[in-house]
Amino acid sequence: MEKLVIKGNKPLTGEVNISGAKNAAVAVIPAALMVHGVVKIENVPNISDVKLLADLLRLLGAKVDFEDKNTLIIDSTEVDKYIASYDIVKEMRASYYLLGALLARFKRAEVPFPGGCNFGYRPIDQHVKGFEAMGAKVKIEHGVIKIEAENLKGCQIFLDVESVGATINLMLAATVADGITTIENAAKEPHVVDVANFLNAVGANVKGAGTDVIKIRGTSILKGGITHAIIPDQIEAGTFMIAAAATRGDVLVKNVIPKHMESLTAKLLEMNINVEENEDSIRVRGVERISKANIKTLPYPGFPTDLHPQTTVLLCLADGTSTITESVFDSRFGYVDELKRMGALIKVEGRMAVVEGIPSLTGAPVKALDLRAGAAVVIAALAAKGTSEIYNLKYIDRGYEDFEDKLRSLGADVVRVIE
Ligand code: EPU
Repeated sequence: MEKLVIKGNKPLTGEVNISGAKNAAVAVIPAALMVHGVVKIENVPNISDVKLLADLLRLLGAKVDFEDKNTLIIDSTEVDKYIASYDIVKEMRASYYLLGALLARFKRAEVPFPGGCNFGYRPIDQHVKGFEAMGAKVKIEHGVIKIEAENLKGCQIFLDVESVGATINLMLAATVADGITTIENAAKEPHVVDVANFLNAVGANVKGAGTDVIKIRGTSILKGGITHAIIPDQIEAGTFMIAAAATRGDVLVKNVIPKHMESLTAKLLEMNINVEENEDSIRVRGVERISKANIKTLPYPGFPTDLHPQTTVLLCLADGTSTITESVFDSRFGYVDELKRMGALIKVEGRMAVVEGIPSLTGAPVKALDLRAGAAVVIAALAAKGTSEIYNLKYIDRGYEDFEDKLRSLGADVVRVIE
């Protein structure tokens, strides 16, 4: 078993480079399956979710090579299977993008229900509703989603919820549908735009990504021969910004798109933390007394749910009583019990956590319950007095490239120990 041992109470200082966005990469890689040819994808984060997807694509007949640690070459010319392996799919949420990609390529797909982080009920009814509106028949048998269409036809889809996954999945299938597909109440996250840019580069016609109406005019074939660079990871950047503030450090977070960070930047400023935006970097300098704040997660451009657990750590150290309300997922408070082991004073009431600030946390053995909950306990351990041990590292490895190396380069006392 592996664990991180962190000796806390040291300010993080220095510069850190942000990797490519996990949630963009895990959509662009399956999208490459639809391309009749070779694509090069740069700035891919070197994380376990990406390696799993690369294996999934290989099993479907694609040639997938890492040119270097962060560059993938995918040749989907000879992809000849539409059935995805349960062993890999069960490990990750993003495998649902195989549904849209394989449907576009073969007019059929068989993909087991996706795995991934478990924080409540995560339905895919909006994906299914959209595929059906395009003329596909969807059956669920023995835990496998089976989709078949004689022909995909353009249509109008109004999403009941602003779902990132459904927006991207339907965008993928619609690229080769007959006519125009309109997705209304679409998600506006930066990675939706990144996937649309990739699709347009391989010959699709997607307009409006980043707004709540996306229009896709179907084309007959998507062609390779292009290079696409994944956008910087908004959530990794936010995680380091929060870690800098929580440890009362001074960190220049490099290779970011400051516009994507606006909801976090605004909250940090409200909490009296110093934030300076440059063209493609953000400097965060912590303060002794963090002001309390009330936060509510929302779809982009609102405050990201994927920064919720990390932000709670800051609220734990703020002056006074703060609240954080989760409005994207129905249950994302599992991490609270872990923070309580470190002395945090948090009460969960329905979808809201009421956090009473204390001067400092104390080190303790804790678990990463999911990817972002894992990032939260790491930040808490970096800020805490004493030594913490973090278990369940597989969750953190799913989404943060070289996490402890980056933290060490900022002066953190962190080591990975194999027991
Ligand atoms: N929803 C439905 N029906 C659907 C799809 C979603 O009711 O068919 C609901 C969900 O239950 C949730 C809300 O809509 O309440 C938003 O879910 P969304 O579909 O946007 O989430 P997702 O596609 O499952 C992606 C990210 C998550 C991130 C969310 C929200 C990927 C692979 N995952 O999940 O990332 O939290 O969007 O931004 O892109 C993470 O990176 O740690 C992570 C969990």
